[in-house]
Amino acid sequence: MRTTPANAETTEDVVDLLRAQHGRIRDLFDEVMDSEGKERRKAFQQLVKLLAVHETAEEEIIHPMARRLPGGDGIVDDRLAEEREAKELLSELDGMDIEDPRFLKSLDKLRIDVLTHARAEERYEFDRLKDQFSPAQLKGFAAAVRAAEATAPTHPHPGVESATKNMLAGPMASVADRVRDLIRDARGKH
Ligand SMILES: [Fe+2]
Ligand SMILES: [Fe+2]
Repeated sequence: MRTTPANAETTEDVVDLLRAQHGRIRDLFDEVMDSEGKERRKAFQQLVKLLAVHETAEEEIIHPMARRLPGGDGIVDDRLAEEREAKELLSELDGMDIEDPRFLKSLDKLRIDVLTHARAEERYEFDRLKDQFSPAQLKGFAAAVRAAEATAPTHPHPGVESATKNMLAGPMASVADRVRDLIRDARGKH
């Protein structure tokens, strides 16, 4: 069942957009687990791409601002450690056959870790950060994140069966670069 809020694609507030992405990430984990074959591969690639866009956006926009909150350094260090662990688990998954039962087992671990991480972000960062950004920043960053996602490739190497492996190594790194560039442009404007 889809649980993404209806306004997820149109919000002009980057904190709301990132919160809505948490919902989409949760839905994509379900899609990967509930599908098989080509459908599973496609859903997994979408998940990898969304995670690359989302976590990079948080590293650029949310965590630096959260460091300024009381107790912020500890909060952000914990979140960054969780993100690092998730990336490691994601690259393990990347080397696996998606039909291998071990794939689903590791994916389920990643799912629980990522969703726990997302809840901690919402509670300790998102809910406390809204007042820290100007309306122009919230809007400018939302546009940058949306533009980065829209232009990021989902299928960087069409026709290659093990495309996900290539995605993490090369194109996903370029997705992260693109997100960073667009966010830094937006920062320059506001
Ligand atoms: Fe995160
Ligand atoms: Fe997040």
